[in-house]
Amino acid sequence: MCIGVFDSGVGGLSVWKEIIKVLPKASITYFSDSANCPYGNKSQQQIIDRAYRITDFLISKGAGIIVVACNTATAAAIRALREKYQIPFIGMEPAVKPAALHSKSGTIGVLATRGTLNGNHFHASVERFASDVNVVAKVGEGLVELVESGETSGQKVKDLLKVYIDPMLEQGADHIVLGCTHYPFLLDSIKEIAGSGVVIVDPAPAIAFRTLNVINENNLKISEIKEATSEYPTTFYTTAPVEKLMMMAHRIDPQIPESNFNNIEI
Ligand code: DGL
Repeated sequence: MCIGVFDSGVGGLSVWKEIIKVLPKASITYFSDSANCPYGNKSQQQIIDRAYRITDFLISKGAGIIVVACNTATAAAIRALREKYQIPFIGMEPAVKPAALHSKSGTIGVLATRGTLNGNHFHASVERFASDVNVVAKVGEGLVELVESGETSGQKVKDLLKVYIDPMLEQGADHIVLGCTHYPFLLDSIKEIAGSGVVIVDPAPAIAFRTLNVINENNLKISEIKEATSEYPTTFYTTAPVEKLMMMAHRIDPQIPESNFNNIEI
């Protein structure tokens, strides 16, 4: 049995990176739907259809648990996935709760896709955990595309980020929640713009621990790669040519063998 992880593209690698910290030897299948990225402006039904196809594929590869490493897909499809399939799904939580809890200024920023910010998940979190906090939510139009193309630093990235982050800072935000799994790839530029007084909240480490807990609670037998073998525990699939995914994954771990990357049309 393996852990399935999927995203509209390379962004979910920011979650995968945290999962391999807590489960370094676990067998993982990562799926990037880069040919259909971005999901942010797609209809809910389109995203549900993709999520079903990807889930069928991951189950065919032995997935016994699936991490939906995409805020947009979580908002659109996690309920449908849980209704249709028996296996556990872990979704991305907009980390509004910790940000609101720790904010001293009483203002937090949330940067996410349109799909996430329009979703019930986000509105419910704000209502539940941040009703007494000023939430400055911005759609990060164009950011996913930059990360998909491997452009994660430089003036163009900073100029675009400033469009979304400056209004948060102007209103006094002391926490900025990254509500899209692509955005941690822009962390250096985000930190530079926000300055040292602002905490950037990435929910990925919490999602990795949640994955570990759900595996334990359900007593799932996730295969582990033995120390002695030279096998690499994660296999990667992408609906786009493999180079893009390989480049971004190699930024996290340059040791991944090229043969672990596969192109697939589903
Ligand atoms: N990584 C996805 C997310 O977390 C990106 C969404 C998109 O494809 O627009 O929302």
